[in-house]
Amino acid sequence: MRKRQSLLIGIAAAAVVPLVLSTALQAAEPTKAPKAVEGLNVGGGERGIEAVIIPGPPLTANDFMSKEHRTFPKGMVCVECHNVDYTIDTVASATRQIARSSAQLSQEQIWAKIVEFLPGRERFALTTALDNKPLATTVDMVLDKDEKVLYVVSEVGTEKLLQLRKNPNISAVHFAGWSLAAGGPALWRSTQINGTAEVIPSTDPRFGVAIEKYNLVRVTKERAYRRFDLIRIQPEQIYYFDTTLGEGIAIYQRWVRGRTGVIAD
Ligand code: HEC
Repeated sequence: MRKRQSLLIGIAAAAVVPLVLSTALQAAEPTKAPKAVEGLNVGGGERGIEAVIIPGPPLTANDFMSKEHRTFPKGMVCVECHNVDYTIDTVASATRQIARSSAQLSQEQIWAKIVEFLPGRERFALTTALDNKPLATTVDMVLDKDEKVLYVVSEVGTEKLLQLRKNPNISAVHFAGWSLAAGGPALWRSTQINGTAEVIPSTDPRFGVAIEKYNLVRVTKERAYRRFDLIRIQPEQIYYFDTTLGEGIAIYQRWVRGRTGVIAD
């Protein structure tokens, strides 16, 4: 913070001298005085919009922007102007600050967006963890929009199944959108899921029901029973990210199981 401030004061001081000189030289002319630009321009971001840094006070995880907060160029994030001291937990983070900085949709509207984004068997990165050792793998998941759970099958004996039996906590992400390689418009969408997973063996009657209902496997049913365990994922929180939601609506929308209406915590 201090560094940023003194840097800015330095820049401001350097700017004043030529300004005074040129004003004196042009005193006779009724010129439009060049408006002093506030802040430090550090250039374009993802969408080519230039960021202008104006240092603010240090923030903790509980300091949310007020309605009176100054406006700033689209694409800038809190940490570009504030030193932050966030604690590590799942509720207080930079993402949550962004979610809180503009309007949240209602839980029902966010859920509808998630359903629209996950219409069929969708590719996810699924992360499990055991003994401080995370493991990310790719899986195909199907959303049951009424139960609000996701189903996936996995080869019996894979490491993620062994981890899930000991620690049911998962994080999973599905994402789509612009990349340097793919080109196209600079738009992004993703779902970032936190929740728990239950491993259901093929001896459980729910296995066959899910295989039929969700078209989960690409092999015959007979082989599926021999090869797979079913994983049922129950999201507790989903961050839905979408750069196309429109002016004044936060790009991160937070959905929480069991909640209704607009939530602001
Ligand atoms: C362009 C720089 C900039 C960005 C980006 C920015 N702030 Fe600020 N913020 C400031 C400045 C400067 C102040 C001090 C008041 C003033 O001069 O406007 C401030 C004040 C605040 C305050 C105290 C006053 C108030 O409005 O509540 C909070 C809290 C705050 N910022 C949170 C945030 C959060 C959270 C984000 C990200 C979502 C953010 N700020 C993004 C520059 C910024």
